[in-house]
Amino acid sequence: MDRMEAITDLAKRRGFVFPGSDIYGGLANSWDYGPLGTELKKNIKDEWWKRFVRERTDMVGIDAALIMNPKVWEASGHVKQFADPLVECTKCHERFRADQAGEKCPSCGGAFGPARQFNLMFKTFLGSTEEAKNQAYLRGELAQAMFVDFPAVLQSMRRRLPFGIASQGRVFRNEITPGNFIFRTREFDLMEFEYFCVASEWEKHFEYWLSEMKAWLAHCGVDAKNLHFHEIEDGERAHYSKRTVDIEYEYPFGRKELYGLAYRTDFDLKNHMESSGRDMRYADHETGERSVPHVVEPTFGLDRTVLVSLLEAYREEQAPTAEEGETDARIVMKFPKWMAPYKVAVLPLSKKKEITDIAEPLYAELRKAMMCDYDETQSIGKRYRRQDEIGTPYCVTVDFDTAKDGCVTVRDRDSMAQERVKIAGLAEYLTEKIK
Ligand code: GAP
Repeated sequence: MDRMEAITDLAKRRGFVFPGSDIYGGLANSWDYGPLGTELKKNIKDEWWKRFVRERTDMVGIDAALIMNPKVWEASGHVKQFADPLVECTKCHERFRADQAGEKCPSCGGAFGPARQFNLMFKTFLGSTEEAKNQAYLRGELAQAMFVDFPAVLQSMRRRLPFGIASQGRVFRNEITPGNFIFRTREFDLMEFEYFCVASEWEKHFEYWLSEMKAWLAHCGVDAKNLHFHEIEDGERAHYSKRTVDIEYEYPFGRKELYGLAYRTDFDLKNHMESSGRDMRYADHETGERSVPHVVEPTFGLDRTVLVSLLEAYREEQAPTAEEGETDARIVMKFPKWMAPYKVAVLPLSKKKEITDIAEPLYAELRKAMMCDYDETQSIGKRYRRQDEIGTPYCVTVDFDTAKDGCVTVRDRDSMAQERVKIAGLAEYLTEKIK
């Protein structure tokens, strides 16, 4: 099994990611996050928000509507230019992205017709009639809300340049060729911010945010040797960008984009100022001079972060069993501890009352401090392996000595070392360890 198959299989088997609409035969390239995947994704989202919004003095967050006035997407250039080149096979009529299609149709060997531009915006209708005047779009990126709300944020939050507006949420793109598990789908989550600055300082901020993106990836446990920084050439960049660096990752299916960093100039604010008639300029607090801010935009694909985290965490290794001198294969997800879905699992050595009378209240107490699991079936060795496979950093075993010494055995996922720890203070002890 290759690495991609291994994590897709594990994701389905252990409740991280399921095929969408499965009982109806699925819907191609749609995926649902299961209970553990939802925790993992939420941990990443929350950590990102803490790091880039709450811990900073130069960032504020918004949570905008998914459907905006269609004029927004006309002004932003998305209605005209947010398109991929598409080719259609003249024989079987399957469609492909022209930049990925090759010479002949990969399905039937037929020849391709001429390439044409295919717009990626998802159309919808507001209200009860499907008339052109009611047509709207599901948002194709988060960024536009942060531009459109710029004057409201400026006024309500009294910010000075440089500062950023951050957002997280779902976007929609009618991709021609989705695929590779959660790598390319038609709806996905983004985390991004628009960092507003004076024009003369964009290069400084661009370099700073590039280094911050690298630091975030290290924090997510991504090995730097799997990353590449690809300077996008003139003519290849999105319509709004003067400089873009794609952060690429070595996926099992090739080197492809993970995140992007773009210098969007004053393109968006200027367009919205012209189209809406609203003043989007910023008044310098010393000189009073008014100008349209420039923007550096770091974008983090959340689903791709989940995919890369699964790939990076996955390990197959030989590990000692309970039997002296014996080993067997274990699959272990070595997520950074802050990212792991469960932080701790409580494992009563037996279902006898003298043990469960301690284990159950302990589980209830720990649940208040962190995400916990409770597992009382099969041998302790098998239970350790089950927790390893979902990346739980600590297992807490309640045994027959616990009633006597007030201690439990805490077992570490990575080193597999075990230590006796007092129940009194266990929650604080574990909280410190999972930071
Ligand atoms: N506001 C800028 C923007 O949206 P983008 O390069 O179009 O930039 C940003 O997309 C990020 O979204 C990418 O770096 C990638 O992580 C993620 N992404 C793009 N298309 C995707 C898709 N179809 N499925 C999942 N993630 C996707």
